Amino acid sequence: MTQGHIRVGTLLLCCALAVLSWRVASWAATTAAPPGDAERGRALFMGEKAFKNGGAPCMACHSVAGVGALGGGMMGPDLTTGYARFRNYVTYPPRTLPPMKAIFSAHPLTPQEEADLTAFFRAASVTRRSTASLVWLSGLALAGGLTLLLTFQLIWRRRLRGVRKPLLLARR
Ligand code: HEC
Repeated sequence: MTQGHIRVGTLLLCCALAVLSWRVASWAATTAAPPGDAERGRALFMGEKAFKNGGAPCMACHSVAGVGALGGGMMGPDLTTGYARFRNYVTYPPRTLPPMKAIFSAHPLTPQEEADLTAFFRAASVTRRSTASLVWLSGLALAGGLTLLLTFQLIWRRRLRGVRKPLLLARR
């Protein structure tokens, strides 16, 4: 066999593998548990709707785009791109990663809840932060900036008076 033959063979093998894994992936997607409801998933994520087995709402530790102006908790990573990276496994980490494992092995998510959460993450990975929450964030940033400016203005004034007054008095 020449090198060219080997190269063509490798190429064909790669194509076959790619097609096979794509078939398996789409088969897994179509046979995946019950259909999820993004709106119910959002309510579960935010804790508006309690988990059947009493697990803590994901938002206690995570944030996702468009959920509240300041997002959710800061302990866990932002899950906005979670679906893009984990697909249907986005609801698998709670069972396996340390801080969540303690909670969610004692209070497991039901298959329906996992499906709902997955649908919510899928929607969130598309919408990103909503315009409304961006407007809120800019408003908050502006208010914070103004507060800082006013505070410094006050401090600065007092300092100027403290320095300039004695100097002016001394010149007279
Ligand atoms: C007690 C706080 C807590 C709660 C509640 C929680 N998480 Fe987490 N989660 C974490 C922390 C901390 C990490 C990071 C773990 C690590 O990297 O080892 C994490 C990581 C993840 C990851 C991996 C993200 C990445 O970028 O690697 C996913 C997915 C996830 N959590 C989903 C969920 C879902 C879904 C829920 C709700 C059912 C949930 N988590 C509830 C704390 C929490």
